[in-house]
Amino acid sequence: MSKQDKRHIALIPAAGVGARMAAGSPKQYLPIAGKPMLRYAVEAFQRSELIAHTYVVVSAEDAYIGGVLPAGEPGVTVLRCGGATRMESILNGLRAARAQIGDDDLVLVHDAARPGLTPGLIRKLIEEAGGEPAGGLLALPVVDTVKSTRGGGVATTPREGLWLAQTPQMFPYALLERALGAAADPSAITDDASAIEALGLSPKLVEGHPRNFKVTLPSDIGIAEMYLKQDPA
Ligand code: C5P
Repeated sequence: MSKQDKRHIALIPAAGVGARMAAGSPKQYLPIAGKPMLRYAVEAFQRSELIAHTYVVVSAEDAYIGGVLPAGEPGVTVLRCGGATRMESILNGLRAARAQIGDDDLVLVHDAARPGLTPGLIRKLIEEAGGEPAGGLLALPVVDTVKSTRGGGVATTPREGLWLAQTPQMFPYALLERALGAAADPSAITDDASAIEALGLSPKLVEGHPRNFKVTLPSDIGIAEMYLKQDPA
Protein backbone atom coordinates (compact mmCIF):
# COMPACT_ATOMS: atom_id res chain seq x y z
CA MET A 1 0.00 0.00 0.00
CA SER A 2 1.53 3.37 -1.00
CA LYS A 3 1.55 6.45 1.25
CA GLN A 4 -1.12 8.08 -0.93
CA ASP A 5 -3.44 5.16 -0.26
CA LYS A 6 -3.26 5.35 3.51
CA ARG A 7 -6.63 5.51 5.19
CA HIS A 8 -7.76 6.86 8.54
CA ILE A 9 -9.29 4.27 10.84
CA ALA A 10 -10.94 5.04 14.19
CA LEU A 11 -10.59 2.63 17.10
CA ILE A 12 -12.66 3.25 20.23
CA PRO A 13 -11.76 1.20 23.32
CA ALA A 14 -15.05 0.81 25.21
CA ALA A 15 -14.39 -2.17 27.45
CA GLY A 16 -13.90 -0.30 30.73
CA VAL A 17 -16.18 -0.56 33.73
CA GLY A 18 -15.96 3.12 34.76
CA ALA A 19 -15.24 2.46 38.45
CA ARG A 20 -14.88 6.15 39.35
CA MET A 21 -18.36 6.87 37.97
CA ALA A 22 -19.92 4.40 40.47
CA ALA A 23 -22.98 3.96 38.23
CA GLY A 24 -25.10 0.87 37.50
CA SER A 25 -23.88 0.43 33.93
CA PRO A 26 -20.43 0.99 32.42
CA LYS A 27 -19.61 4.66 31.94
CA GLN A 28 -19.65 4.55 28.14
CA TYR A 29 -23.36 3.63 28.17
CA LEU A 30 -24.59 6.30 30.59
CA PRO A 31 -27.07 8.69 28.96
CA ILE A 32 -25.88 12.18 28.12
CA ALA A 33 -28.76 14.41 26.98
CA GLY A 34 -30.75 11.21 26.41
CA LYS A 35 -28.16 9.38 24.29
CA PRO A 36 -25.63 6.74 25.41
CA MET A 37 -22.21 8.35 25.80
CA LEU A 38 -20.50 5.96 23.35
CA ARG A 39 -22.74 7.09 20.48
CA TYR A 40 -21.35 10.64 20.51
CA ALA A 41 -17.81 9.47 19.73
CA VAL A 42 -19.03 6.99 17.12
CA GLU A 43 -21.17 9.63 15.42
CA ALA A 44 -18.31 12.15 15.31
CA PHE A 45 -16.29 9.61 13.29
CA GLN A 46 -19.31 8.68 11.13
CA ARG A 47 -19.84 12.37 10.30
CA SER A 48 -16.17 12.90 9.36
CA GLU A 49 -15.56 12.28 5.67
CA LEU A 50 -11.89 11.62 6.48
CA ILE A 51 -12.59 8.40 8.44
CA ALA A 52 -12.79 5.19 6.40
CA HIS A 53 -14.06 2.90 9.17
CA THR A 54 -14.62 2.79 12.93
CA TYR A 55 -13.92 -0.18 15.23
CA VAL A 56 -15.40 -0.32 18.72
CA VAL A 57 -13.79 -2.70 21.23
CA VAL A 58 -16.08 -4.04 23.99
CA SER A 59 -15.67 -6.88 26.45
CA ALA A 60 -16.76 -10.38 25.40
CA GLU A 61 -19.59 -10.38 27.96
CA ASP A 62 -20.88 -6.84 27.18
CA ALA A 63 -24.68 -6.92 27.37
CA TYR A 64 -25.38 -3.34 26.24
CA ILE A 65 -23.63 -2.82 22.91
CA GLY A 66 -26.34 -4.43 20.74
CA GLY A 67 -28.86 -1.83 21.91
CA VAL A 68 -26.46 1.08 21.41
CA LEU A 69 -24.83 0.10 18.11
CA PRO A 70 -27.24 -2.30 16.34
CA ALA A 71 -25.87 -4.57 13.59
CA GLY A 72 -25.67 -2.69 10.30
CA GLU A 73 -24.56 0.62 11.81
CA PRO A 74 -22.88 2.32 8.82
CA GLY A 75 -19.08 2.25 8.83
CA VAL A 76 -18.82 0.60 12.24
CA THR A 77 -17.59 -2.83 13.37
CA VAL A 78 -17.91 -4.02 16.97
CA LEU A 79 -15.07 -6.23 18.22
CA ARG A 80 -15.78 -8.27 21.36
CA CYS A 81 -12.17 -8.61 22.43
CA GLY A 82 -11.70 -6.13 25.29
CA GLY A 83 -8.87 -6.80 27.74
CA ALA A 84 -8.10 -6.17 31.41
CA THR A 85 -6.59 -2.73 30.71
CA ARG A 86 -7.22 0.03 28.17
CA MET A 87 -3.92 -0.86 26.49
CA GLU A 88 -4.83 -4.52 26.16
CA SER A 89 -8.26 -3.64 24.73
CA ILE A 90 -6.59 -1.52 22.06
CA LEU A 91 -3.94 -4.09 21.23
CA ASN A 92 -6.57 -6.85 20.99
CA GLY A 93 -8.66 -4.61 18.72
CA LEU A 94 -5.71 -3.78 16.47
CA ARG A 95 -4.88 -7.47 16.08
CA ALA A 96 -8.52 -8.49 15.49
CA ALA A 97 -8.81 -5.94 12.66
CA ARG A 98 -5.35 -6.76 11.25
CA ALA A 99 -6.59 -8.08 7.90
CA GLN A 100 -8.58 -4.89 7.23
CA ILE A 101 -5.88 -2.31 8.06
CA GLY A 102 -2.66 -1.54 6.17
CA ASP A 103 0.65 -1.01 8.00
CA ASP A 104 0.73 2.66 6.95
CA ASP A 105 -2.95 3.35 7.63
CA LEU A 106 -3.38 5.87 10.42
CA VAL A 107 -5.30 4.60 13.45
CA LEU A 108 -7.08 7.23 15.56
CA VAL A 109 -7.58 5.80 19.05
CA HIS A 110 -10.33 7.65 20.91
CA ASP A 111 -11.78 7.09 24.38
CA ALA A 112 -15.50 6.32 24.50
CA ALA A 113 -15.60 8.62 27.52
CA ARG A 114 -14.91 11.75 25.42
CA PRO A 115 -18.32 12.57 23.88
CA GLY A 116 -17.30 16.13 22.93
CA LEU A 117 -15.22 15.11 19.91
CA THR A 118 -16.23 16.81 16.65
CA PRO A 119 -15.45 16.24 12.95
CA GLY A 120 -13.62 19.58 13.08
CA LEU A 121 -11.21 18.33 15.76
CA ILE A 122 -10.69 15.09 13.81
CA ARG A 123 -9.83 17.14 10.72
CA LYS A 124 -7.45 19.37 12.68
CA LEU A 125 -5.54 16.37 14.05
CA ILE A 126 -5.28 14.73 10.62
CA GLU A 127 -4.24 17.95 8.87
CA GLU A 128 -1.61 18.90 11.45
CA ALA A 129 -0.18 15.47 12.34
CA GLY A 130 -1.09 13.24 9.36
CA GLY A 131 2.40 13.56 7.87
CA GLU A 132 4.29 12.93 11.14
CA PRO A 133 6.22 9.63 11.22
CA ALA A 134 5.65 9.37 15.01
CA GLY A 135 1.98 10.36 14.76
CA GLY A 136 0.25 12.91 16.95
CA LEU A 137 -2.49 13.59 19.44
CA LEU A 138 -4.89 16.27 20.60
CA ALA A 139 -3.73 17.93 23.81
CA LEU A 140 -4.38 21.09 25.82
CA PRO A 141 -1.69 23.44 27.16
CA VAL A 142 -1.88 23.61 30.97
CA VAL A 143 -3.36 26.97 32.02
CA ASP A 144 -3.46 26.56 35.81
CA THR A 145 -0.46 26.81 38.13
CA VAL A 146 0.69 23.25 38.82
CA LYS A 147 1.39 21.99 42.35
CA SER A 148 3.19 18.77 43.20
CA THR A 149 3.06 16.81 46.49
CA ARG A 150 5.42 14.11 45.24
CA GLY A 151 8.30 15.21 47.46
CA GLY A 152 6.20 15.17 50.65
CA GLY A 153 5.61 18.94 50.87
CA VAL A 154 3.99 21.20 48.27
CA ALA A 155 6.04 22.49 45.33
CA THR A 156 5.14 24.51 42.26
CA THR A 157 6.05 23.09 38.87
CA PRO A 158 6.38 25.63 36.04
CA ARG A 159 3.48 25.07 33.66
CA GLU A 160 5.41 26.17 30.56
CA GLY A 161 5.72 23.25 28.18
CA LEU A 162 3.15 21.14 30.06
CA TRP A 163 0.19 19.69 28.17
CA LEU A 164 -2.80 17.53 29.07
CA ALA A 165 -3.18 14.64 26.63
CA GLN A 166 -6.58 14.09 25.03
CA THR A 167 -7.69 11.66 22.35
CA PRO A 168 -7.84 10.90 19.44
CA GLN A 169 -4.21 9.84 19.35
CA MET A 170 -3.20 8.94 15.80
CA PHE A 171 -0.36 6.64 14.69
CA PRO A 172 0.50 4.41 11.74
CA TYR A 173 -0.96 0.95 12.41
CA ALA A 174 2.35 -0.94 12.41
CA LEU A 175 4.05 1.58 14.72
CA LEU A 176 1.17 1.54 17.23
CA GLU A 177 0.98 -2.25 17.26
CA ARG A 178 4.74 -2.48 17.80
CA ALA A 179 4.77 0.15 20.55
CA LEU A 180 1.87 -1.35 22.53
CA GLY A 181 3.23 -4.87 22.02
CA ALA A 182 6.60 -3.79 23.44
CA ALA A 183 5.16 -2.09 26.54
CA ALA A 184 6.22 -4.01 29.64
CA ASP A 185 3.43 -2.91 32.01
CA PRO A 186 -0.02 -2.58 30.37
CA SER A 187 -1.55 -0.81 33.38
CA ALA A 188 1.18 1.87 33.28
CA ILE A 189 0.26 2.82 29.69
CA THR A 190 -2.66 5.23 30.22
CA ASP A 191 -2.43 6.64 26.72
CA ASP A 192 -1.05 5.38 23.43
CA ALA A 193 1.42 8.21 22.97
CA SER A 194 3.38 7.10 26.05
CA ALA A 195 4.05 3.74 24.40
CA ILE A 196 5.30 5.56 21.29
CA GLU A 197 7.48 7.82 23.48
CA ALA A 198 8.96 4.73 25.14
CA LEU A 199 10.37 3.83 21.70
CA GLY A 200 12.26 7.15 21.74
CA LEU A 201 9.84 8.90 19.37
CA SER A 202 8.04 12.25 19.82
CA PRO A 203 4.42 12.37 18.66
CA LYS A 204 3.19 15.81 17.62
CA LEU A 205 0.89 17.68 20.04
CA VAL A 206 -2.04 19.37 18.30
CA GLU A 207 -4.10 21.80 20.38
CA GLY A 208 -7.52 20.30 21.10
CA HIS A 209 -10.53 21.85 22.83
CA PRO A 210 -11.88 21.72 26.41
CA ARG A 211 -15.19 20.24 25.13
CA ASN A 212 -13.25 17.05 24.35
CA PHE A 213 -12.66 16.36 28.07
CA LYS A 214 -12.90 12.87 29.56
CA VAL A 215 -16.11 12.19 31.47
CA THR A 216 -14.90 10.59 34.70
CA LEU A 217 -17.00 11.67 37.71
CA PRO A 218 -20.82 11.87 38.01
CA SER A 219 -20.64 15.69 37.99
CA ASP A 220 -18.95 15.57 34.56
CA ILE A 221 -22.24 14.49 32.91
CA GLY A 222 -23.76 17.97 33.31
CA ILE A 223 -20.60 19.62 31.92
CA ALA A 224 -20.68 17.30 28.90
CA GLU A 225 -24.34 18.18 28.30
CA MET A 226 -23.48 21.87 28.37
CA TYR A 227 -20.77 21.45 25.70
CA LEU A 228 -22.94 19.16 23.57
CA LYS A 229 -25.64 21.86 23.34
CA GLN A 230 -23.09 24.07 21.58
CA ASP A 231 -22.35 24.06 17.86
CA PRO A 232 -20.49 20.79 17.17
CA ALA A 233 -18.70 22.02 14.02
O1 C5P B 1 -11.27 4.38 32.70
P1 C5P B 1 -10.79 5.37 31.67
O2 C5P B 1 -11.68 6.57 31.55
O3 C5P B 1 -9.35 5.72 31.79
O4 C5P B 1 -10.93 4.60 30.27
C1 C5P B 1 -10.55 5.17 29.06
C2 C5P B 1 -11.14 4.36 27.90
O5 C5P B 1 -10.56 3.06 27.88
C3 C5P B 1 -12.66 4.17 28.02
O6 C5P B 1 -13.22 4.35 26.73
C4 C5P B 1 -12.78 2.76 28.51
O7 C5P B 1 -13.99 2.11 28.13
C5 C5P B 1 -11.58 2.08 27.82
N1 C5P B 1 -11.11 0.86 28.50
C6 C5P B 1 -11.08 -0.35 27.79
N2 C5P B 1 -10.69 -1.52 28.42
C7 C5P B 1 -10.32 -1.50 29.70
C8 C5P B 1 -10.32 -0.28 30.45
C9 C5P B 1 -10.71 0.90 29.81
O8 C5P B 1 -11.44 -0.38 26.61
N3 C5P B 1 -9.98 -2.66 30.28
